[in-house]
Formats: sequence, structure tokens, C-alpha cells
Amino acid sequence: MIAIQAQNLSRSFFTVKRTPGFGGMIRTLTRPERTETQAVKDVTFDIAEGEVVGFLGPNGAGKTTTIKMLTGILYPTAGEARVLGEKPFDRKADWLRQIAVVMGNKNQLWWDLPARATFEVMREIYDIDSRDYQKRLDFLIEHLQVADKIDTQVRRMSLGERMKCQMISSLLHRPRVLFLDEPTIGLDVVSQLRVRDFLRTLNDEDRCTIVLTSHYMKDVAELCERVILIDHGTKVFDGPLDTLSSQFANERRLRLTFSHPVEAGALTGIGEVIESTEESALVAVSQDRVAEATRLALQDLPVEDIAVDSVSLDEVLRKLFSR
Ligand SMILES: Nc1ncnc2c1ncn2[C@@H]1O[C@H](COP(=O)(O)OP(=O)(O)OP(=O)(O)O)[C@@H](O)[C@H]1O
Ligand SMILES: [Mg+2]
Repeated sequence: MIAIQAQNLSRSFFTVKRTPGFGGMIRTLTRPERTETQAVKDVTFDIAEGEVVGFLGPNGAGKTTTIKMLTGILYPTAGEARVLGEKPFDRKADWLRQIAVVMGNKNQLWWDLPARATFEVMREIYDIDSRDYQKRLDFLIEHLQVADKIDTQVRRMSLGERMKCQMISSLLHRPRVLFLDEPTIGLDVVSQLRVRDFLRTLNDEDRCTIVLTSHYMKDVAELCERVILIDHGTKVFDGPLDTLSSQFANERRLRLTFSHPVEAGALTGIGEVIESTEESALVAVSQDRVAEATRLALQDLPVEDIAVDSVSLDEVLRKLFSR
């Protein structure tokens, strides 16, 4: 079954251009100059129930705007969205009970109260049976490992603890579709891992459909089989993550560290220089030239250390988005 549908979804924003100074202020008031930003343009996709899909794109690409349209926070200027068969902006009570949104940079908990208080309110709002509530809460607390934190005032929690509690509060009602906008932003490596593991468990156990955005490639690589790339508001790729990197499957990166300073010019014979300083360099070579390039480097340069890597996903995306 299709859980999420976007059909030519578009959204633009009008902003009034402000000119500095008093004259500028008067002009802004009398003859406002409006500029249009097309945040999302003609984006179309289907997401099946139970899928985990990652939205990737540089800053300002339109990821958050898309999520806001899918969750009924923003109205599209053109096109249509359907989530679980309903138009998000209708925000029907029944529908709201089946979705959840977690925004990594927004606090959705009561600041001056312990997290448990927010959980209790959620229980009331969603009218969750108390036995069911306790079971669910225990499950969430255990997997996110915050048992000793939920009675602490939210304002005293660390960023990671707050994020985890925020997830708990959004998941108590067992939503069928979960939207996460940068759920691991600012978290340390251990917490990121914990959140990723948790989301995987959630998808396995609840068959919950998950749409997430993240700037951490690891989140996406480990959780999402499918990615949708958005750049300047437009969908530029939709498919399995493997397909993206497979275009670079026959390329390797030679990472060289030098014992003495080396000028960039000395590297040209080895391969295409991607980045270099006097102390180190990253050089692109095709897989069948790795042996030769390595030999040349060792022969001609004061090489202290050498490593051969495949092309990282970060680089693949950097290339794609710089086009
Ligand atoms: N309320 C608004 N008013 C005016 N412009 C907006 C508004 N919201 C978003 N925009 C613009 O729309 C574009 C897309 O923004 P959006 O927040 O969707 O990007 P994003 O992909 O989530 O970026 P990031 O990775 O930085 O979170 C940006 O150019 C942004 O400035
Ligand atoms: Mg965003």
C-alpha cells in the first residue's frame, strides 16, 4: 500500500526585500519589492508503507519545506500531497493520530517540567489505554536508554537526551508514518548510533514508514535503502543508495602523506589531484591504475603514508550537488 504520495508538489515563498536606511524603510513600506523563492518545484514520488526513505540535499534545498507540506504545516502552492490517503492540510483528527513529526531543531517538550509530564499529556491527547501506554513507554525508554532521565526537568537535559525524549513523546501513540527532520543534529557519535539502531527497531517492529532528512551520511547509509535527492527544490535522484555510488565503483582515491613538503605540480603524473597541501594529497585514479600510481608515488615523492579508498558517499554527493 502507498503511504505517501507527492504529485508535482511545489511551494514558493514571497519575501519583501528590505533596503537599509530611512529612505529604504519608507520605500519598503510604500512600494515593497517582493521576491519569490521557489523552495520546492514539481516534486513527485510515492513511498510505500513500511519503507524508510532518506531526503538528502544541501542547505536550502527544500527538504524541510517538503516535510512541512507532507505533515500539513504548510500548504502547497501547487500540486498535491496525500499521506495515508488524506490531504495533510486537512489535519483530520483520525489522520493526526497516525502520523508523527520530529523536528531536530525544535523543542516539542515542556521546558520546565520533566519529560514524563509531556508523555502523560500525549497519553491524554491520544487517549491511550494506560496498560498499553506503560508497555509502549517501557519499550521506548529501553531502546533509547533514557530510563534515568525522564524525571529530570527538560531544561536540564543534554541535547541528546532531549532529542530522545522528544522521539518518545512523538511515538507513544504508535504512528504509522514518522517524519524526522534532522533527528541526529548535534548528537555525539554514540547517541547518533543509538538513535539509528532505535529507528531500525521501530521500522522492524511497528512496520512504521519513516521519512528522514539528515546531513549525516551515516544515518542515511545505514537506515535508508532508498534516497531522494533534492537540489534547488527539484528532485534530482530517486532510488537505491547503491546506484548513486556505483557510478564511481571503478574509481579509487589515493591518500598520500608526505615527510617533506611537496608542491602540487609534482603530483600530476600520478592522477587527478582532488585536494592537496604541502603535507598531504588526495588523488583520483581508476581502479586498474592503482598499482602503477602507487609505484610512481613511492618512487618520486617523499611518501610517509599511503592509503587507497573507494569514493566516499560524501564525495559522490558533493559532486552531484555542485553541478
Ligand atoms: N517561511 C519562509 N519564508 C521565506 N523563505 C523560506 C521560508 N521557509 C523556507 N524558505 C526558503 O526556502 C528554501 C528551502 O528551505 P528549506 O528549509 O526547505 O531547506 P532545507 O533543505 O530544509 O535546508 P537545511 O538543510 O538547511 O535544513 C530556502 O531557500 C529557504 O530560505
Ligand atoms: Mg531543513
